Amino acid sequence: MSLYSPAEGWYYKKVAKDEKMWMVIALILCIALFIWMVMWHVYGKQNPSSTTYRTSTTEFAKLSESYIKKNMVGLDNGVPVVRPKPNTDVFILSEMWRWSPALILQKDQSYKFHISSKDLLHGFSIQPVNMNFQVFPGYDYVLEFKPTEVGEYKVICNEFCGIGHHTMIGRIVVIEKEEDLKLYGYENLKKEPDPLPESGSSGKVLTEAEMVLMGEQVYTLKGCAACHKIDGTSQLAPAWNGLFGKDELVIENGKKITVKVDEDYIKESIRTPQQKLTVGFEKTPMPIFPLTDEDVEHVIAYIKSLQ
Ligand code: CUA
Repeated sequence: MSLYSPAEGWYYKKVAKDEKMWMVIALILCIALFIWMVMWHVYGKQNPSSTTYRTSTTEFAKLSESYIKKNMVGLDNGVPVVRPKPNTDVFILSEMWRWSPALILQKDQSYKFHISSKDLLHGFSIQPVNMNFQVFPGYDYVLEFKPTEVGEYKVICNEFCGIGHHTMIGRIVVIEKEEDLKLYGYENLKKEPDPLPESGSSGKVLTEAEMVLMGEQVYTLKGCAACHKIDGTSQLAPAWNGLFGKDELVIENGKKITVKVDEDYIKESIRTPQQKLTVGFEKTPMPIFPLTDEDVEHVIAYIKSLQ
């Protein structure tokens, strides 16, 4: 609604000649741009078309967790590495602030990516080829993906997602021959994913090796890997290698005491992290993670194995 009404009968007044000319030019331009848009999509080297499905963050997180559990062949900086078979579904989860898993793909083979976010909007940007997709929580973004060139690709997040945004870098390597794995430090990964032991609820007793394997998965999937490293570096939290059996200086009730890192101590550190704070890491207190008792047992087995 306009504040002023036009004069009566304006609709039937003739349009001036030059005004008409501009309308025709605009119309032609509109049609040309419209055709251009369709042609650009078909013939231009644009981002591929994709399909999107509704999902929920918990549902997708569960899907990707079980996908990684079943398919991981190793770790890269605490991020699980998966080597999917061609023409299979691949689940990629973004969360503050990482992409997981890292992928090893075969040149000229197709993969069906499912991409979603666990928390907020992230941007899936493959560099240096500069393909960009928005990743929303609650949507399963399905993308046919066929790498045509070997090499290492970084997955950069290109939507600002908080303080760790700039560290949110994933990895996709595309290989042609097995030897190519060496270029990326992946030559020692498992050839095939380990067959997973059934979780403890089946009543089956796990072997020590199976416990360690399950613990390693808790380590990567539940996010312990973000702070606890296993290569001896410790910026945010004590490293896990060589930790078990060690004497640790901690603060309890304001007093410094020495404790031996054993099963009870690890259990307590997970359940009530504020009880004893390791000297040197008081500034980065650990949050409480919702782990099951089994998860905790497995984590302990894993830490024990890291000598
Ligand atoms: Cu994720 Cu920025």
